[in-house]
Amino acid sequence: MTQATPHIQPNGVPIAKTVLMPGDPLRAKYIADNYLEDVQQFNEVRNMFGYTGTYKGKQISVMGSGMGMPSIGIYSYELYNFFDVDTIIRVGSCGALQDDINLYDIIIAQAASTNSSYVDQFNIPGHYSPIADFHLITEAQRHADALGATTHVGNVLSSDTFYNADETFNTQWKRMGILGIEMESAALYLNATFAGKKALGIFTVSDHIFRDEATTAEERQNAFTQMMEIALETAE
Ligand code: HPA
Repeated sequence: MTQATPHIQPNGVPIAKTVLMPGDPLRAKYIADNYLEDVQQFNEVRNMFGYTGTYKGKQISVMGSGMGMPSIGIYSYELYNFFDVDTIIRVGSCGALQDDINLYDIIIAQAASTNSSYVDQFNIPGHYSPIADFHLITEAQRHADALGATTHVGNVLSSDTFYNADETFNTQWKRMGILGIEMESAALYLNATFAGKKALGIFTVSDHIFRDEATTAEERQNAFTQMMEIALETAE
């Protein structure tokens, strides 16, 4: 195992086999402070905070991924390939595309379509489908059911753009059954597969792409709590 990489310098603090990754590093700190015990910080390079602690006796780490595929591409690559991490569970938010999905439902990303060129580096002679680990999907669904969460399992779009110039963009992806748009999972799934490791993305729906809906801070917090409990229980 590597001591340190350009972006992760743990200074002897262990990194668990399973890492939860929110986009926001302060979200990682919030998760460590509120859900983990015996917490030690393992990274502060570029303020991309990472922590290791325990949840119900299991060692788990949590670290920010940053926004977009280049950012999660770097951190997940280093975690999988240099720090012996087996599983990364992204815990994020997404914008819903389908009519039957409501704010603060949970989306479990079975697959991640993308408009990103991240996949090009693998020189695949065709169009590869980045997919999550099946066991993690079924475990997440099982824990979501136990919590009574409203879930949707399917294909998300990992987009390189938050603001897209093409006005048909959202309707085209909706037509193809994409549940929601986020910006990281395809790179995570590609890195996991290439390294022979496991990944899953779980999302709360933070906005609906085609509807203008207001929500309360309490609803947001409840949805976040549900997603975190699903992710923590799914973590092996
Ligand atoms: N687009 C991309 N990423 C997102 C969105 C969105 O609408 N909402 C939350 N993450």
